[in-house]
Amino acid sequence: MIKLAVCALALTVASANTDTSWLIFKAKYNKAYSGDEDIIRRFVWQSNLKKIEEHNELYARGIKSYYLGENKYADMTTDEFNRIMNGLNVHKEPGKYVSGQYKAYLPDSVDWREKGYVTPVKDQGACGSCWAFSTTGSLEGQHFNSTGKLVSLSESNLVDCSRKWGNKGCGGGLMVYSYQYVMDNKGIDTEKSYPYRSAPHDPCKFKRADVGATQQGYKNVTSGSEDALQKAVVEVGPISAAIDASEGGFAFYSGGVYDEPMCSSTNLDHAVLVVGYGNLGAKDYWLVKNRSVCLFFFFFVSFISVVC
Ligand SMILES: *[C@@H]1O[C@H](CO)[C@@H](O)[C@H](O)[C@H]1NC(C)=O
Ligand SMILES: *[C@@H]1O[C@H](CO)[C@@H](O)[C@H](O)[C@H]1NC(C)=O
Ligand SMILES: *[C@@H]1O[C@H](CO)[C@@H](O)[C@H](O)[C@H]1NC(C)=O
Repeated sequence: MIKLAVCALALTVASANTDTSWLIFKAKYNKAYSGDEDIIRRFVWQSNLKKIEEHNELYARGIKSYYLGENKYADMTTDEFNRIMNGLNVHKEPGKYVSGQYKAYLPDSVDWREKGYVTPVKDQGACGSCWAFSTTGSLEGQHFNSTGKLVSLSESNLVDCSRKWGNKGCGGGLMVYSYQYVMDNKGIDTEKSYPYRSAPHDPCKFKRADVGATQQGYKNVTSGSEDALQKAVVEVGPISAAIDASEGGFAFYSGGVYDEPMCSSTNLDHAVLVVGYGNLGAKDYWLVKNRSVCLFFFFFVSFISVVC
């Protein structure tokens, strides 16, 4: 239950039009609520739609560089979304920001999707397992590089089995713990043999026979250096990274270059995979796997790990 009950009840205005839209929303995203929760969820959904509309008006006027759209998170408050989805447990390091003095010899743009390094976007569900998806993403890229085969790897293998390495299942984790697990475990299972479930209490079901990739090591990219990140993306492939995804618009990102001036460079709560970069109009961006978000290059990236 969320804590909005009182104001929600006071503010809900029913109309035939939104009645139907609410039913359609619930059917589309498989939501079933009863009693008070239905009223509260509907209020949250309505206020999110209003936010999305207002944001998109700013986008139309050229004030915002990205636009939003309704999705399955539209009945969640920002706090709820952040609590459930952004499960990266970063030790706060005061990252030293190094501004992008792009090296002349590096290409203007890179997109590893075009070279076959990147599996399709997966769905983490209501589980703080972003760190596991970031880990499999970089391993999938490096495995493709060494074998020429793109094999989707198992996030649930990491969520269920790497607690001893410091991860906390759906409660968050880190890519470096996961790399250490995969190295110590001498492999990670394929997605096909160990499919994803957004379940916090599943037992470990790792099977040696189903290993899809092994790992020899990894390297950290200098925290806060976009030059170092660019070099790593060019020379290594898709790179695991951490961002601040707690700003309102992130949950409903639908297109454009995501750029939030309030974005923090030290409160990093979401793990992603940088699969390239480029320039759109006057804006440099990082191409980031997960919602195909394109991040404006000022959007700070820190705590980055490279798999070798
Ligand atoms: C990324 O975005 C999709 C679509 O918005 C979302 O459903 C998913 O849970 C997100 N996370 C990952 C790891 O792909
Ligand atoms: C793997 O990386 C090396 C070194 O960057 C590159 O020469 C090679 O073409 C890559 N292989 C694949 C399959 O992309
Ligand atoms: C990478 O950085 C993390 C966090 O600072 C550290 O715990 C880990 O040992 C580093 N790994 C390597 C291979 O340098």
